[in-house]
Amino acid sequence: MKKYNYPNIKTKLPGPKAAKIIKTDEQFVSPSYTRGYPCVAERGIGLKLIDIDGNEFLDFCAGIAVCSTGHCHPEVVKAIKDQAEKLIHMSGTDFYYEVQARLAKRLSQLSPGKKKKRVFFTNSGAEAIEAAIKLARYKTGRPRLMAFVGAFHGRTVGALSLTGSKIIQKQGFSPLLQGVEHIPYPYCYRCQFGKKYGSCNLECFEYVEKVIFKKTVPPKEVAAIFVEPIQGEGGYIVPPDEYLSRLQRLAKKHGILLVADEIQSGLGRTGKMFCCEHFNLEPDIICIAKGIASGMPLGAIISNADVMTWPPGSHASTFGGNPIACAAALKTLDILERELIANSEKMGRYLLLKLKKLAAKYAFIGDIRGKGLMVGMEIVTDRKTKNIDPEKRDLIVDRAFYQGLIILGCGPNSVRFAPLCVQARMKLTVVLTSLIVCLKNLDKQRMLYGKIQNRMAPR
Ligand SMILES: Cc1ncc(COP(=O)(O)O)c(C=O)c1O
Repeated sequence: MKKYNYPNIKTKLPGPKAAKIIKTDEQFVSPSYTRGYPCVAERGIGLKLIDIDGNEFLDFCAGIAVCSTGHCHPEVVKAIKDQAEKLIHMSGTDFYYEVQARLAKRLSQLSPGKKKKRVFFTNSGAEAIEAAIKLARYKTGRPRLMAFVGAFHGRTVGALSLTGSKIIQKQGFSPLLQGVEHIPYPYCYRCQFGKKYGSCNLECFEYVEKVIFKKTVPPKEVAAIFVEPIQGEGGYIVPPDEYLSRLQRLAKKHGILLVADEIQSGLGRTGKMFCCEHFNLEPDIICIAKGIASGMPLGAIISNADVMTWPPGSHASTFGGNPIACAAALKTLDILERELIANSEKMGRYLLLKLKKLAAKYAFIGDIRGKGLMVGMEIVTDRKTKNIDPEKRDLIVDRAFYQGLIILGCGPNSVRFAPLCVQARMKLTVVLTSLIVCLKNLDKQRMLYGKIQNRMAPR
């Protein structure tokens, strides 16, 4: 059996070189970033991340769910180098080039539904959301938008208006877009309607149909409903199977476009190319970014061709769909289709199973949920009250780093696991072993550390 000799932490953390870089960073870089622990990355290979002092970490966060083929996949690196030698930039706004057209065709063919599609390219997730807002308003001629409580759609002004994740993200930035309504996400573990999935009538859905659309928001004024098929930053929350298709039917009935934000859940992460496929959803617009180009900055919206009817000049981007990013994306799609989507499905099932076993041992693990390798673990004070325990969650994430395991939190009290390239069970076993070390004696640790000094954004 192949041996995994990492994580391998050789210095005190942060190491001497890392400490120096952090000092410069703290003086000159915007204080708005949310670094939880002192990770100063230098190199990456697959799941291995090596810091500036030579410490080797097991990366279960993949650059916030971005490096879908693992760090620096050799085939992606080659595609980037080959393209850089031919053409670095041209701008798809005013010129044609092959890789952009080829990627648009491929994404159109891969996305769910039989309808003809078109693609608009951006540089990031938030920009994809901005494009979708504009397209939805343009197409429908309607002003209002709907999104979900807990949603994260980005931090530019339009996207931020849809975001409903954390107050710190919005505080001080008003006025945002007018006419945005937030509705409850189907979060069965903490049902806002006090129901239990299986014996409920999807009251969360009925609330939209029977309360919102009857009392507060005229559906004829709504251009689009934005939804994450699995809510990401909000806590890796998986909706019940039938929720999204019912939402789509409701939207259709009122001439409202359904926009799926697959920026975090898309591109193989959940064991299907698009997470929507788990729910038989065929959105009018899909937003993607993060995993599409293995770390090159690229985003896109894919929409039904009869929706993307805006005329030349109505929307464009100098850099969006840059040739190198497109070349990286085409290679990423090859690798995902060849092996990593199936792998994500298989390894995700294994990870869920093992985490559920772990949950049976620790009463502070309230819920384990996810699809493929998009898995969340919710931390509570105890299972009966389900009170959130953000401090303990932060402690787990923090301790994991010192164990050599890179993970991040999501939502107020969840831990997320979002690698993609875990090909061997062995690596998951290493993760689980590190995690068990982190989970043991947590309360003792908490007393020792007191409230951990953590620069994460307030919850
Ligand atoms: C679901 C979702 N939408 C949008 C965004 C914003 O993407 P970006 O940070 O590339 O602007 C994110 C980022 O985390 C996301 O998870």
